[in-house]
Amino acid sequence: MSNKKNVAIITGASSGLGAEYAKFLDKEGVDELWLVARRKERLDSLAAKLRTQCQILTLDLADEICLDELEQELAVQKPHVKYLVNAAGFGCIGLSRDCPRVKLQQMVKLNDMAAMGITEMCIPYMSKGSHILEIVSCSAFQPIPNLAVYAASKAFMLSYSRALSVELSELGIQVTAVCPFWIKDTEFVDKARETDRHQVYKDMPGATNAKSVAEKSLRAAKAGAVVCTPDTVSTVHRIIASLLPHWLLAKVCF
Ligand SMILES: NC(=O)c1ccc[n+]([C@@H]2O[C@H](COP(=O)([O-])OP(=O)(O)OC[C@H]3O[C@@H](n4cnc5c(N)ncnc54)[C@H](OP(=O)(O)O)[C@@H]3O)[C@@H](O)[C@H]2O)c1
Repeated sequence: MSNKKNVAIITGASSGLGAEYAKFLDKEGVDELWLVARRKERLDSLAAKLRTQCQILTLDLADEICLDELEQELAVQKPHVKYLVNAAGFGCIGLSRDCPRVKLQQMVKLNDMAAMGITEMCIPYMSKGSHILEIVSCSAFQPIPNLAVYAASKAFMLSYSRALSVELSELGIQVTAVCPFWIKDTEFVDKARETDRHQVYKDMPGATNAKSVAEKSLRAAKAGAVVCTPDTVSTVHRIIASLLPHWLLAKVCF
């Protein structure tokens, strides 16, 4: 029997969805949780509440050097990665011309380059029964004005996850793209506010909560779902976006 330690790696674990996934994966019997984000004190305080041993990785994942550090950590420890949850991400609400260019570029670096890069670096440490959860968004289903770059970054991850799930099926590694609608109890909307439009999203009817998204999506992943819409609005959105032209849906959202 292999003596490699079983780990669950969770990015964005210092808040919102990432922290909720850490709490659920705490009950999965892995040997170690690797908690990744920039705010060390938040990760420390989460780790203190969990029963599983935690490794804190204080990394800015939009920085290539930090991605190399994570890859190096994997190479040194050679764990067996049972779960990878890529939850680190942010958005920018407003016309893209009103959002700072650097912020838009950082978004693509974190939401796409980092999530894809971390996934690729973890795959060699996975085996049959391992799970990859990419935290996407139902904004991936269509172009969305006032969230143009964010929705495009999530469309990249949805397409990547779908293709990867086919590539990895022969190895028995399950990939799930989690595509929720707005979640009201995370820091996301407050951080994404670049213009007054953010209030529209904060008060959105049908918004869900982080605990429910984490719980339902982990269940869906274990059941083999490639795309998980963990709430009613995202489920309806997925159906509508598969039926109607995206130029029309983009105009309706504007
Ligand atoms: N909230 C929603 O309405 C919603 C809906 C659909 C999808 N999502 C997706 O769900 C995921 C989690 O978002 P959330 O709602 O839980 O928001 P959140 O509470 O703001 O959490 C975002 C997490 O990402 C981490 N992060 C941000 N920049 C980072 C960086 N450069 N390097 C490393 N970590 C970084 C943050 O930690 P530090 O600041 O400590 O680094 C934090 O832990 C995101 O991918 C988001 O796009 C959210």
